[in-house]
Amino acid sequence: MQHFFQQLSTFLESKYILIQDEDKAPYLTDWRKRFTGKALAVLLPSTSAEVASIVRLCAQHHVSIVPQGGHTGFCGGATPDNSGTQIILNLKRMNQIREIDIANQTITLEAGCILQNVQVKAAEQGFLFPLSLGAEGSCMIGGNLATNAGGTNVLRYGNTRDLCLGLEVVTATGEIWNGIKGLRKDNTGYDLRDLFIGSEGTLGIITAAVMKLYPLPISQWTTLVACENITSSIALLNLFQKRANSLLTGFEMMTQESLELNEKHFPHMANPLQGKPPFTILIELSDHESEAHVKQLLEMILEEAFESQLISDAVIASNLTQANAFWHMREHITLAQAEEGANLKHDITIPLSALDSFIQETDELLRDRFPGIRIINFGHLGDGNLHYNIAPPLGADPKTFNASNEKPIHELVYAQVERCNGSISAEHGVGQLKLDDLRAHKGDVAHELMKTLKRALDPQNILNPHKVVSI
Ligand code: FAD
Ligand code: MLT
Ligand code: ZN
Repeated sequence: MQHFFQQLSTFLESKYILIQDEDKAPYLTDWRKRFTGKALAVLLPSTSAEVASIVRLCAQHHVSIVPQGGHTGFCGGATPDNSGTQIILNLKRMNQIREIDIANQTITLEAGCILQNVQVKAAEQGFLFPLSLGAEGSCMIGGNLATNAGGTNVLRYGNTRDLCLGLEVVTATGEIWNGIKGLRKDNTGYDLRDLFIGSEGTLGIITAAVMKLYPLPISQWTTLVACENITSSIALLNLFQKRANSLLTGFEMMTQESLELNEKHFPHMANPLQGKPPFTILIELSDHESEAHVKQLLEMILEEAFESQLISDAVIASNLTQANAFWHMREHITLAQAEEGANLKHDITIPLSALDSFIQETDELLRDRFPGIRIINFGHLGDGNLHYNIAPPLGADPKTFNASNEKPIHELVYAQVERCNGSISAEHGVGQLKLDDLRAHKGDVAHELMKTLKRALDPQNILNPHKVVSI
């Protein structure tokens, strides 16, 4: 590899070529500590031209590339394998905002921009950048696009794909495709942009993007409500959709078991609702008219929900601090799970009409077969997206429990997902975690088409091999 590194040093400064174990270590393990790999080197380019040169060099030397942003992904897509022959291409130095176009309501930015910084920059110009998720302080736009991340605003603004108008991508042969256009209409043949979004670094390396901005709402109201069961939770969602329509910007669900785990690790985050309701729903309305308008609307809908016995308790946040506390409670479930130890994640979507039977039947099947397990079920109910995560019985060693039960638990849950015509990955992607599950889920025709695309766009199989699809 001496020749590889010699050529590399002609266009990338040596301080951005990490080859010592202690320098590479921070890039080798994912946020969940679920995956650890080895790498020949970690490369930190700062321009698209440098990325293109790296890819060309890798193609020449048959070195495979693992693109990486904040390494917060849940499916091991950004973690290298154990061969020690892959390079990690971390985009964090590509963190420039190229332009905010006020009239076009777009932001053009590089892949290494941290999501939270983008939200702040947009807000400084009076805009909302609606993508929002628990990892926003460390995940990057390139990673968000590559995983087509969802988060808590999908209900109103769509997922990352819906927010993207254009991309700049370095192809597997080291060419730069300039698709940086802020157009809301463009029917010029195949949609290359949509091909790269959600491809998890297997088809190209995203180096920049044009994303949509929205006017900042004038007022937001957040409330927590108690529901007895999932049927009333969905009826409540439908009521809010009918009465508030596009003002409904968040509808998140937390079961009692999820919030108990939260309280165990973060006692200051106790649920303010009375009597530990089976389902706690966090609802957010956003308005461009006035504070009074949205508050009145919220109170009116809640009153109707009480009268129809859809809810048994409600707490409206009286100020921003309390609203943030409600959101923190929701977002801390993931952190509580991390504190508790290794757990089994299922990031699934089910049609809302089948959600009730899915939860009831799957809960029952799991509890019968794996006595004592804790079902940490929460998520973006407005999108039909459950984080139906499984923690081992209290007192059981997570590693030992998962070693013998991970496979049958996944099989049981995914069989239920198929029965309901759902998806085994709603927003977290496939990576290496769900590689084997994908074929059965997509079916042979779709899976073969995916492989055909991969072969066509990356004939040498150097971009994130054995993630999403193996060819
Ligand atoms: P990484 O983890 O670095 O990479 C993810 C994948 O994208 C890998 O396959 C990688 O190879 C590829 N990739 C990265 N950058 C590029 C690039 N520039 N070009 C091509 N490929 C690239 N996700 C949700 O969807 N919704 C949530 O609500 C949510 N909540 C989360 C909460 C917490 C606390 C955490 C830790 C994670 C959460 N996630 C959520 C998962 C994760 O944050 C998202 O998947 C995020 O989009 C990943 O961004 P990243 O920069 O960390 O990407
Ligand atoms: C979230 O919505 O908080 C994350 O996507 C969920 C998870 O931890 O599974
Ligand atoms: Zn989520």
